[in-house]
Amino acid sequence: MTTAASPNFTLDAVFESMADLPVFPKIVHKALQTLDDPQKKIADVSAIVKFDQGLVANILKLTNSAMFGLRQQVTDLDTALALLGNQKIREILVAGAALPYLTKPLSGYEMSPEDLWVHSMGCAVVADVISKKIEYSAGATLFTAALLHDIGKIVLDLYVGPRLQEVLVVSKQRGGNFSEAEWIVLGTDHALAGSTILKNWDFPPDICRAVRRHHDPDLYIQDSLSCLLALSNIIAVQLGFGVGTDGFRYHVEPGLLERAGLTQEDYYWCLENSLARFYEAEDMLNMIMN
Ligand SMILES: [Fe+2]
Repeated sequence: MTTAASPNFTLDAVFESMADLPVFPKIVHKALQTLDDPQKKIADVSAIVKFDQGLVANILKLTNSAMFGLRQQVTDLDTALALLGNQKIREILVAGAALPYLTKPLSGYEMSPEDLWVHSMGCAVVADVISKKIEYSAGATLFTAALLHDIGKIVLDLYVGPRLQEVLVVSKQRGGNFSEAEWIVLGTDHALAGSTILKNWDFPPDICRAVRRHHDPDLYIQDSLSCLLALSNIIAVQLGFGVGTDGFRYHVEPGLLERAGLTQEDYYWCLENSLARFYEAEDMLNMIMN
């Protein structure tokens, strides 16, 4: 087996190269912080996003779509934001900013351009459904973490793509644990790579930590955000939302549900409601993209 110490592979070089990747738009960070601040109003969000014509166009497009059934066309940003509400504004902001990264083909992971996007969006939808079910106070943070949780796959595919075939072989030998196989072959996994890039992009430490922990049961059980992210990911896989070679044979441990604050009935409710909510989110995003 080839190891991380082989010629032409330096893990340090991979992590250093991440600094050269394009940055996450500052305007989106700022707008998200404003949405999270109970002291701020919709007008404060408007004051930030109005300078980004692409964002303004998407917001107006969605507000005037059939989804809202308005009789008159909305042409001003303030009214559009007030009609959309916090959660939909957040979806447009994070999804719009992450889209260029999450729609690349990941040949090493045998994922098409749609797979990572569908999986990320699916995980974010599940996270939102769970947050509402348990009235989780940090639902907005969980939504962002869920949408970006597999961003490390882009980095590993970009820098060590050919080596991922070895990861696939080792993963099959070890019963389908792809994350463990990444560690054995590469000396890292996409969770650590993802948390590193999110740190570089100035995301808050709790999001970076949850992304780092999302495949490690010993770690994700230690805090609520990580635990809920891991559960959202497992449910997204179970529902078949964009799974490549990373489609672990997941099942939900009773301990994970208990730690997440869900009963078995809640879990089934989340499975059912996530599907309906996913198709709604997919429609909304297709509308924005087209
Ligand atoms: Fe993952």
